[in-house]
Amino acid sequence: MRIAYEHMDSINVGLLGFGNVGTGTYETLMMNRDRITAAVGTEIDIVKILVNDINKKRTIDVPFSKYTSDVNDIIKDPNIDIMVEVLGGIEPATSYMLSAMEYGKHVVTANKAAVAANYDVLHQTATDNHVQFRMEASVGGGIPVLSSITSVLRANRFEEILGILNGTTNYIMTQMAENGLSYEKALKQAQEKGFAEADPTADVEGIDVANKLSILMALAFDHHIHPKDIPTTGITKITEEELKEADAEGKVIKLIASATNRGSRLDYSVKPMRLPKDHPLAGVKNEFNAVFLKGNAVDDLMFYGKGAGPLPTGSAVAGDIVQIATEELKETMHELMEGNKK
Ligand code: NDP
Ligand code: HSE
Repeated sequence: MRIAYEHMDSINVGLLGFGNVGTGTYETLMMNRDRITAAVGTEIDIVKILVNDINKKRTIDVPFSKYTSDVNDIIKDPNIDIMVEVLGGIEPATSYMLSAMEYGKHVVTANKAAVAANYDVLHQTATDNHVQFRMEASVGGGIPVLSSITSVLRANRFEEILGILNGTTNYIMTQMAENGLSYEKALKQAQEKGFAEADPTADVEGIDVANKLSILMALAFDHHIHPKDIPTTGITKITEEELKEADAEGKVIKLIASATNRGSRLDYSVKPMRLPKDHPLAGVKNEFNAVFLKGNAVDDLMFYGKGAGPLPTGSAVAGDIVQIATEELKETMHELMEGNKK
């Protein structure tokens, strides 16, 4: 669905969720407003924000009239061009995204649980309704790995994925190993810094990493493996003694996602591994993530950056919004010029 001519003085965005990622997205769009407007050619406005509790005190000051607790104020509003889903959880997030696409809205999400569980239907619904569906922030926070796989690396056949894909667990293990924090204290800090999921079980049991590996495999290997089918072990059983023992051996323990593609056979897992301290992934600390990819043309590549947190994730969500706005406005202009020629 093209951005309508009447909307060309601003692109209107409806935001579902105003927690860590929602506020990070809002802040990114505000602090870089001039630069973004110049790049897109028009302003991007967040016009409605869905939250559970419209009266809750927020960290960012936003006009009260923007808040709603009725998702239909966004999905069914014909003046909203792009819907951003950053609620979390598989439902109702998936149903909201599907409805928005059916109403002709482009959709951006950071929600790896929803994307990994419903990868095919979300992409098919976007195609059927001629809208864009983008999800850069769902893997690696601010690291632009997904759009690299689907654009500049498109000419490759990928053979291997190896990565640290969860900021919370990497933060916990770094703090336990290097600063002697207890597991509980390190987890509490990760929650306070906005890295953890609303229910951190998904982080510490490795489920969040399985969701991200499922998305990476779908894009890099063209096979969607449901996260429930990925053998997954989290970090809850790792003790301070084990971390010390690894250190004495010249190693660090990291929660590693790995997948290989040998043509007819895919192998994949999520589990803690002991890595020598000179391994490229051993130096990835705190909320930083890293993704190693091997393509048959480009060979070895490594992406590194902040995998969690409001602004790094907001950067990726805002980037998807800007990308959609730029592409769709270009198409609208093209169609207008073609129409004028007739
Ligand atoms: P938060 O828990 O901080 O925020 C969730 C927001 O959604 C809140 O504003 C909440 O409203 C609102 N909300 C939740 N459910 C509903 C509902 N059913 N109806 C209306 N509003 C609802 O989550 P995050 O921002 O941390 O995460 C959001 C998504 O982004 C998740 O999918 C997460 O996995 C993903 N993500 C998170 C990253 C991070 O670093 N935190 C990084 C990358 C992805 P209220 O404020 O009123 O409670
Ligand atoms: N809870 C996730 C993490 C957020 O800690 O990595 C980023 O996806």
